[in-house]
Amino acid sequence: MNIEVEGKQRHFAAIWVEGKEVRMIDQRKLPEKLDIFTARNSEDIAFSIKNMVIRGAPAIGVAAAYGLSMAKANGEDMELAMKRISETRPTAYDLFKAISFMKKNEFLESAARRYGMEITGRCKKIGEIGNELIRDNSRILTHCNAGALAVVDWGTALAPMRIAHNAGKKITVFVDETRPRLQGARLTAWELAQEGIEHYIIADNAAGYFMRNGDVDLVIVGADRIASNGDFANKIGTYEKAVLAKENGIPFYVAAPGSTFDFSLPNGDLIPIEERGEEEVLEFAGNRFTPELSRSRNPAFDVTPSKYVSGFITEYGIFQPSGLKSLRSMMEKDIFMNS
Ligand code: MRU
Repeated sequence: MNIEVEGKQRHFAAIWVEGKEVRMIDQRKLPEKLDIFTARNSEDIAFSIKNMVIRGAPAIGVAAAYGLSMAKANGEDMELAMKRISETRPTAYDLFKAISFMKKNEFLESAARRYGMEITGRCKKIGEIGNELIRDNSRILTHCNAGALAVVDWGTALAPMRIAHNAGKKITVFVDETRPRLQGARLTAWELAQEGIEHYIIADNAAGYFMRNGDVDLVIVGADRIASNGDFANKIGTYEKAVLAKENGIPFYVAAPGSTFDFSLPNGDLIPIEERGEEEVLEFAGNRFTPELSRSRNPAFDVTPSKYVSGFITEYGIFQPSGLKSLRSMMEKDIFMNS
């Protein structure tokens, strides 16, 4: 992704390796500050994932892969390193895919680099394929951040928008602010602004208003885990956007690489849903604005049934939920997905 630093455009990845350390853009600080977080061992990596220094399903997987190769190089206890990293966030399937990939590849640094490069390349392909769905003057709604920050580069849901914009199409993006952590308002809007893509940040509750008014042509979101039948988990609030899209006859697409598909699950009821701390809802920017006696519930994700999905945009093509069997057989023949 291109980022303006001191008046100059520079190309940045969300996470990279420098010598024996892993560096990542500290996503807790954006958009106010472009700070770099350094991880030196598996504990730092586990901290960065759990506390959302880095977030987004594919990026969590890449951080885990780099973390495990670093642990191996440090001579850490690998069972403990895997346990630590696997217990950070339960919903994103990419985390577990990356851990299993690294285990099969003996935690080699070259394997971690390959994992990161493959995932990034596949997300670019998602962008090229998804670009076909975007017409000139399209108005697209997205939820949370499924951009370059959530991958390494390109993004999943944002990749088709980036490529459409680069191809000279005029697009407008409606960005749900995405309470409680504001990944839309802080991160997606920041990425779109850096690329010069026209966008409006809207309150989460405003999506239905714009859809009903005919202001949205297309919805594209990312995913954290997709079950065999096409039910999928994504940021809390995705489900209601999908229902609203169907109600208003708006196509609803989910963009995700093969690493997010969990074919061991028959349906979405079995996807583990992370519940995060109450303070994320009860406080704003560290200040409590709610009654002292109030409690909160804070599920980080919800599950959207496959009947609301027009298609999954993947690196293998676009699949309707009823076509996921052919995606599965393509993935079974894909060497990277099985190594
Ligand atoms: O809690 P987060 O910020 O990690 O949630 C991220 C999302 O829900 C994204 O939409 C999803 O991981 C896809 S990222 C390409």
